[in-house]
Amino acid sequence: MTSHCGLFLFLALSCIVVESRRFGGNSDGLSSNVSEFLHSADSNVEGKRWAVLIAGSNGYENYRHQADICHAYQILRKGGLEDENIIVFMYDDIAFNVYNPRPGVVINKPNGEDVYEGVPKDYTGEDVNVNNFLAAILGNKTGITGGSGKVVESSPNDYIFIYYADHGSTGILGMPSGDYLTAQDLMNTLKQKHAAKSYKSMVIYVEACESGSMFEGILPSDIDNIYVITAANANESSWAAYCPDDFPSPPSGFDTCLGDLFSISWLEDSDIHDLRNETLEQQYQVVRRRTAVDDLDFSSHVMQYGNKGIGEDSVFNYIGTNPNNDHYSPSDNPPHSGLTTTPHIVSQHDASLLHFWHKYHNAPEGSPKKTEAHKELVDQLSLRKHMDQSIHEIISVVFGREKISEMLNSVQSAGNPVVHDWDCFKLLVKSFRKHCGSTSRTRYDMKYSGAFANMCNAGVDISRATQAITQACSANAPPS
Ligand SMILES: *[C@@H]1O[C@H](CO)[C@@H](O)[C@H](O)[C@H]1NC(C)=O
Ligand SMILES: *[C@@H]1O[C@H](CO)[C@@H](O)[C@H](O)[C@H]1NC(C)=O
Ligand SMILES: *[C@@H]1O[C@H](CO)[C@@H](O)[C@H](O)[C@H]1NC(C)=O
Ligand SMILES: *[C@@H]1O[C@H](CO)[C@@H](O)[C@H](O)[C@H]1NC(C)=O
Repeated sequence: MTSHCGLFLFLALSCIVVESRRFGGNSDGLSSNVSEFLHSADSNVEGKRWAVLIAGSNGYENYRHQADICHAYQILRKGGLEDENIIVFMYDDIAFNVYNPRPGVVINKPNGEDVYEGVPKDYTGEDVNVNNFLAAILGNKTGITGGSGKVVESSPNDYIFIYYADHGSTGILGMPSGDYLTAQDLMNTLKQKHAAKSYKSMVIYVEACESGSMFEGILPSDIDNIYVITAANANESSWAAYCPDDFPSPPSGFDTCLGDLFSISWLEDSDIHDLRNETLEQQYQVVRRRTAVDDLDFSSHVMQYGNKGIGEDSVFNYIGTNPNNDHYSPSDNPPHSGLTTTPHIVSQHDASLLHFWHKYHNAPEGSPKKTEAHKELVDQLSLRKHMDQSIHEIISVVFGREKISEMLNSVQSAGNPVVHDWDCFKLLVKSFRKHCGSTSRTRYDMKYSGAFANMCNAGVDISRATQAITQACSANAPPS
């Protein structure tokens, strides 16, 4: 009885200082038992942690997005979250893909361990779509079709972490099936979630090209309990890492990139640190530095949106912490460890092409594999060319040849949304995808969403534009 009381008093006092103090000296070997206990104790105090993890792509050439997501899952589990509170969206065509040299295994860095084991298959294949993703965030079970039905059933004291990895472009994020996710749809969902007062605070990490455009100028300032970081600003690419022929490169046999630069930066940082002792702002600084390679033509600006005050929260509040990292000290970090060096990188759009090139290049001369890979590569190239030609034609039909460069390249100034008429934008993006890019798993058609945003901003006649899209796309169609 007395010993229970003693223990209780000790823990109660410790809870108060747990954010600022470590359990130094582990000579008794019990410190991890204690922190594990505290861990569950203070998650009771703080409310639950929920997480939604989503890879928006499919195809072996996009290996890295699902690898990022699986890696994040492992961190959350080691951090103390339960499966019932982690909702995973991934197409799930990587681990057992015929091209995977290690069947059943997914890695997220060259010498990395398996990150696939144990990942719950809540939403896979066609169930990874906009509707299910948004319904899961809202906690709307009746809005879900297929999948495990797991949704964020959060209470007002709970913390929510959302992590998205995929291709993106101006105003959109990719999805393996159905429509792309537009910034407007995401924003409406966040507003609804906020209005329902069903969480305490939410953190969103987004890896995608032009990911800043999902929030720039459109996340309302009265939503004061959301904090976001994105891999790139509203008008630049994000970057793949651990790609073939680069340093460090994947083990031989992997003709594909294993990770993305922004993603591996926060994931590898979270792998080793005591996240009680790291704030979101500190993690942002680490990730920002690693993602911005010296030459900014070949890297991206990590951006912050929403209530930056939340940056003072510890990362632990959202993703827990691995008890094995409790004694990590910054000086343990050797100066040239992977955490401070930036691997060579490849733009998101080109990473897929790199995969097809490697597949072709590495196939034995004269083999059926070589023929198949050759066809795949040529198809990819002509599909891209087809879309490049079509967009030029569309703009010149609708606005005149002299406007091509302006429509393709102009960007809104910081603080402004990328598009004002979202209905116009959605229609044109969808129409272009349907007529020009529907067979393109590599999402090259996304590249031109910025042009459609500019056309909508310039007050384009929508029916004239859709007609031009249909015509240009069918005229330039590559022979199939
Ligand atoms: C502490 O944890 C270790 C490993 O989990 C376990 O073997 C040991 O029995 C625990 N000690 C106590 C006192 O709970
Ligand atoms: C849940 O989804 C269903 C189907 O889409 C919809 O009719 C309903 O209004 C949604 N409920 C809430 C609370 O958003
Ligand atoms: C916690 O972080 C601060 C600043 O990063 C550092 O100075 C301090 O040594 C850390 N404490 C422990 C116990 O790791
Ligand atoms: C577009 O990119 C430039 C250069 O990277 C940057 O200065 C500008 O703020 C960006 N605009 C937006 C809206 O992010």
